[in-house]
Parts: sequence; C-alpha cells; structure tokens
Amino acid sequence: MKLLAFESSCDETSVSVVDNGEIRSNIISSQYFHKKYGGVVPELASRAHLEAICELTTIAFEQAKLRPTDIEAIAVTTEPGLIGSLIVGSNFAKGLSLKYNLPIVPINHIEGHIYSGLISNSGCGFPFINLLVSGGHTAIFLVRSFNDYEIIGLTRDDAAGEAFDKIAKLLGLAYPGGPEIDKLAQLGNSRRFDFPRSMINSGDYDFSFSGLKTSVKNFVYKNYPGGVPEEVLPDIAASVQAAIVDVLVAKTIKAAEEHQVRNIVISGGVSANSWLREKMKTKAAEIGISTYAPEMGYCMDNAAMIGFIAEKKLLEKGREAFYKLDFRVSANALRSRKKNE
Ligand code: KG4
Ligand code: ZN
Repeated sequence: MKLLAFESSCDETSVSVVDNGEIRSNIISSQYFHKKYGGVVPELASRAHLEAICELTTIAFEQAKLRPTDIEAIAVTTEPGLIGSLIVGSNFAKGLSLKYNLPIVPINHIEGHIYSGLISNSGCGFPFINLLVSGGHTAIFLVRSFNDYEIIGLTRDDAAGEAFDKIAKLLGLAYPGGPEIDKLAQLGNSRRFDFPRSMINSGDYDFSFSGLKTSVKNFVYKNYPGGVPEEVLPDIAASVQAAIVDVLVAKTIKAAEEHQVRNIVISGGVSANSWLREKMKTKAAEIGISTYAPEMGYCMDNAAMIGFIAEKKLLEKGREAFYKLDFRVSANALRSRKKNE
C-alpha cells in the first residue's frame, strides 16, 4: 500500500511516502531559525510549516518517483504537539484526502516514535521494551504488538532531551543542545565531574531530570562564576551526558529483565546520542538482550514513522474505517499509564 504521510507537531516539517513498510522518501525540513530564541516559538513554527509543506510534498513525490494519483492513503500526526503546527499538517492532509478521495489515518506522534525503531530493523520482534527519549517525552513502554503497548515508566518532570537542551543553554551552547553536548562529550572525560543519577535506584521505571539541571547550574555558578572556560566544557558535557545515559540505560535494562523481554528499541531525538546507542547496546548484550535503534533520519521528528504505523492500522482495520474528516488535533502530553485509559 502506498501512503503519503505528514508530520508537523513541533519544529520539523516532514513529508514521506511509504510503500509496504518501505520508506520511498522522508523529507525533513528543520526550523533552525528558532535557535536565536533559545527554544521553539509556536506562532513562528506554524507559519514556517505553512510555507514549507507544499514544496516538501512535491519533493517527497519526486524522490519516491510517484505521483499523487498513485497514493492509496494519507497519514498525519494529530497529537501531541503545538496546536497551530498540528493544524497546518492536519488541514493540508484533509485537503488532499478530499481532493483525491483517500482515507486519512490520524496518528499519535508518540506511537510514531515507539515503532520507528522497527523501520529498518526487521529483525526485531515483539515483545520489546521501548525507551522513548525526545525533547518533549521520556518514557518506557512494554510493546506487545502494533496495537498493544503499555506505558510502564515516565519522567516526573523534564524530558531527557529537555535536560540536554537546558543544560546546554546554561553552558552557553547552541539550541538544540543535545547534539552539541554529544559532540563536545566525545572530546571529554566523563569521570571528571560526578553529577547525580536521579532515581537510578527508585525501584520503578520513572525518571527525573530537573535535579540534574539544578545540580549543573549550582556547580557552574560556584566553580565558574565568570563563565565556564572553553577547555573545561568537554569534560562537563561528557559528565552530564554520562549522568543522563546511565539512568536511561539502567532503567531500560531493568524493565527488559523484569518483563522477560529480549529486545530493546530506543527511539526519539535523544536516541541519536552516540553514547546512549553504544552504552545501551553493550550493557544489554552482556545479558543477552538485543538493542535496536532507528537510523538517524527516523530518530528526530519525521513523517516516515507516521506513515509506517499508519499502514499497520490500515491493514488491521481496513480503508473504510478511515474516511472521517472530523478528527481534531490535540496538545495533550503523555499522561496515562495505559494506552486505552
Ligand atoms: O524527537 P525530537 O526530534 O523532537 C521531539 O519530539 O521532542 O527530539 C528532539 C530532542 C532535542 O531535545 C534534542 O536536543 C535531542 O532530541 N537530541 C539529542 C541528540 N540529537 C537530538 N540529544 C542528545 N544527543 C543527540 N545526539
Ligand atoms: Zn518527537
């Protein structure tokens, strides 16, 4: 089945063509101009989506070597995210659905991330433990099939990506801070500074990252009141990254062991982190658990993951179930403990 998928929940506009689980194109345009504000400005984000979406759709078709009339269904992210940004993608998708009389599958962005690790990893079977780490979310899921998953851990405050971004800002690094810390950390000594591994022994699968942010803030104000010298930055970056990754890896592996699951899938923007990818793989392998991570283009927000899971829903429920155009977008963050609660 050939699907056209849209993702516009935050600051990436993305359009993808998916064909029987294979990604024919995955065009992503990142709104780098938010850098100068130190974070995403919602109103500017929706305007930029509006300016980009038409042209990106043309490029997605060109790269997939297909035309709009070849498409059999449409998929679009409808929650959670910035309302204005979600409306741009959703209304554009609805317009195409009307024009070409195509079914349209509303997709939860989180579900897109959960299954994104399977896109180019067909070797990973169910069940698996998914660590979803992005700018907006940090959670652990027990995933039994394409339509059965359960949230078993959640951050109680900041998301891991948010911690990377806020700490990077504190250190005077560019936004988004995760990739900046990752790059600097490769030159640094992760054992030089001992930052807290919050909740690492809490006995559950929940996280907390706001204490780490405060600890780094106090450390910087106390030791470097005039600003952090450039030569110390790599060691701080490496030590911060190790603190975040240690907790993510420990909790995910504990979840896999306690649920007797042999596969771990990491996903979301922070799953691009080189130390997280390496450490999770090594630690899990020590106890015979396999780790799967998405290709880089499927870590960050992307439409391929939206089309990928939409195709599974179409196959399960049939095209006729998706001709309704009265669905709405929603900003709702990840809250419930179970999928259907
Ligand atoms: O999934 P994503 O693109 O958007 C959200 O849904 O939030 O994730 C963005 C987050 C940002 O916080 C960014 O700093 C983080 O992913 N990120 C990284 C890396 N690349 C992106 N964090 C750590 N290391 C990286 N290499
Ligand atoms: Zn995301």
